[in-house]
Amino acid sequence: MKQKNRNSFSGSIGFVLAAAGSAVGLGNIWRFPYLAAKDGGGLFLVIYLILALTFGFALLTTEIAIGRKTKQSPLTAYGKIREKWKFLGVLACLVPVIIMPYYSVIGGWVVKYFLAFLTGGGAAAAEDAYFTGFITSDVEPIVLMLVFLFIVAFIIFRGVNKGIESSSKIIMPALLVLVVGIAVFSLTIRHTDDAGVARNGMQGFLIYVVPDLKGLTVKGFFSVLLDAMGQLFFSLSVAMGIMIAYGSYVRDDANLVKSINQIEIFDTAVAFLAGVMIIPAVYTFMGREGMAASGPSLMFVSLPKVFAAMGGIGNLIGCLFFAMVLFAALTSAVSVMEAVVSSLMDQFHLSRVRAAAIETVIALVGGVIVCLGYNHLYFDIVLPNGAHAQILDIMDYISNNFLMPLVAIGTCILIGWVTRPGVIIDEVQKGADKFGRKGLYVVMMRYIAPVLLVILLLKSLGILTVI
Ligand code: ALA
Repeated sequence: MKQKNRNSFSGSIGFVLAAAGSAVGLGNIWRFPYLAAKDGGGLFLVIYLILALTFGFALLTTEIAIGRKTKQSPLTAYGKIREKWKFLGVLACLVPVIIMPYYSVIGGWVVKYFLAFLTGGGAAAAEDAYFTGFITSDVEPIVLMLVFLFIVAFIIFRGVNKGIESSSKIIMPALLVLVVGIAVFSLTIRHTDDAGVARNGMQGFLIYVVPDLKGLTVKGFFSVLLDAMGQLFFSLSVAMGIMIAYGSYVRDDANLVKSINQIEIFDTAVAFLAGVMIIPAVYTFMGREGMAASGPSLMFVSLPKVFAAMGGIGNLIGCLFFAMVLFAALTSAVSVMEAVVSSLMDQFHLSRVRAAAIETVIALVGGVIVCLGYNHLYFDIVLPNGAHAQILDIMDYISNNFLMPLVAIGTCILIGWVTRPGVIIDEVQKGADKFGRKGLYVVMMRYIAPVLLVILLLKSLGILTVI
């Protein structure tokens, strides 16, 4: 392996922004708010926060430390820790291979909405049939998926410093400004509907943050807990090889404790603020029922209606919003692709350009198939968790509900029981003064995380139905 030539981030800021860029993505902006709306707002927030600081922190720390210790990609890193555990690297690498095509397709949808609002077409985008009409059309979703994919591939071609790090340093501050600006705006809006009912953003904000425990059952509580856990994986980019790849580019003298804290704070803050941007706005214009009914269609169906209802300023806000989503999706997709590209480079000793070209072709073919899943290859099956699915949902299910918990369980067993957590603790303390949550880390990796993960996996597979 060309260890000596391995690229590294130029400093902690570059690493933190790249990793935060990976973490902050469609998961934060599209998935987090609708789960929060579905799961009783404040309760979901509290559970998510506790899990982020314990479970998420343990997995994030482990993966970044594995990367830095081995200086290897996800595909090859696990085998370097323990030869017999190479298979876990294969599974971890399979996740971004599966995610990349459908992430690019959704990236293409974001490009479509950004362009629609940029060119003043917000009113059309708010019409009922717009989204379905677009994703079921033959050519446009494929073309826009390609646009998104080629931007990502271009950044990857340019390498760790000139591509990933430089783009994150520009995109992430811009994203933060947009997120904070739109969130503040969302709190100030007011609207009176046709029935004369007046609502405002602050009321929506309170619905978002105040826990609603009315009628909460044990089963309901577990459902919120597992939703929050599943969301954490996706949001923190763990169990998909990414943080191992990025960790492998971190210099040995960097302070991992500090960087990990910053990444967690960044990711959680943006997820929270995404809720502040979206939930008060949707509540103000659509009421509680509209909010609850939105589900996954929140971003592409409900929000354009909200922007249209804002009148003149709606086009501008919509344009800024989708620019922000595009930024978030781009930096995440870059990290998903890098997890695969670094694996190809390390395993097969390929050049970056060649590895990136191969992964681009794989994502392109997969992306076209995902697009066709809404027209020529359309079918509707029911997954073990009861959800109706097309090709995109099936890929999302296999990666999120099956492979990612499996990779995380394997990582907990490897680090918690086979090597023992000391391996990671030593690595973390290399460039840091003190690993503050050491005790918590050990308990999480050995006991709590694996148990929760097995429950999550069994529930996702429809095997566990009592909770
Ligand atoms: N962590 C990335 C997201 O939230 C993959 O979209």
